[in-house]
Amino acid sequence: MLANCVATQDVHRAYGGVVPEVASRAHQVNIIPVVDLALKKAGVVKEDLSAIAFTRGPGLLGSLLVGVSFAKGLALSLGIPMIEVNHMQGHVLAHFIEDPKPNFPFLCLTVSGGHTQIVVIKSPLEMEVIGTTIDDAAGEAFDKTGKLLGLEYPAGPIIDRLAKLGTPRFEFPEPNIPELNFSFSGLKTSILYFLKRELKKNPEFINEHLNDICASVQTRIVSVLMNKLKKASIQSGIKEIAVAGGVSANSELREQLIATGEELGWSTYVPKLEYCTDNAAMIAITAYYKYQKGEFVGQDIVPMSRYAL
Ligand code: KG4
Ligand code: ZN
Repeated sequence: MLANCVATQDVHRAYGGVVPEVASRAHQVNIIPVVDLALKKAGVVKEDLSAIAFTRGPGLLGSLLVGVSFAKGLALSLGIPMIEVNHMQGHVLAHFIEDPKPNFPFLCLTVSGGHTQIVVIKSPLEMEVIGTTIDDAAGEAFDKTGKLLGLEYPAGPIIDRLAKLGTPRFEFPEPNIPELNFSFSGLKTSILYFLKRELKKNPEFINEHLNDICASVQTRIVSVLMNKLKKASIQSGIKEIAVAGGVSANSELREQLIATGEELGWSTYVPKLEYCTDNAAMIAITAYYKYQKGEFVGQDIVPMSRYAL
């Protein structure tokens, strides 16, 4: 890994969430500088490249279009092949950027702003989703709770930081969802009603108890994730357990995974923070495996906003 450059779009903070049109415009502005920076940091020139990989989906179509079109232009001008990558596959394979790497088969809890999945990985390019959310993703649960509490977007990292200063003394119900699936919309509603009730009694409730509310919400989200992961391990008999995606940056989830792993004899894998949240290295490592198999695509490739693993 020679360079892993990320252009963060802070512009969305003002809106309390990602605005699709603003995101694609920012991608257009950022793509050439960020690619130039990566090449410079890596100490290579464009002519050294043997292939170009890009994210085909899932995601916001306008943003994906910028990346796909840029990749097409670069591939055509340099006469090199293109490799399409599924964003969620990238999150899982982030574990292979550095050591220690999980052994196959392993389970991966992939938790981001748009997805919550439990995936069985049989080999680098062979994956099966065995559990998914029926409504909101885990990251959305953090972000929407943050909005109710008046926190900035994305609220996940802020809630993580504030939760460390509080105690989880408020109880939120654990959703009763069958199999290995998840649901977070009920949690959001119960937090909403809880806050309304308490604010009626004390208009300063959020200000006075913010850390404890964050700790309580985080504890519930983490326990929901961990309980399903334990169930998946028992059902599949797999004890190689990994987490990936933006929410895997959460310190309580990381601690719980390690503690549960020690208790149940799991080998656990948590990527470095910069490989948890969206990054280019995870797309490159996925493309590395596809390159070895000669899995290239042509100029007729189109992005897909919904793209199953
Ligand atoms: O994977 P990611 O960077 O982008 C998507 O593909 O969605 O994930 C972003 C999500 C956001 O919802 C953000 O609030 C959440 O990851 N997140 C966290 C933490 N860091 C990022 N959630 C909880 N605790 C964190 N430390
Ligand atoms: Zn992501």
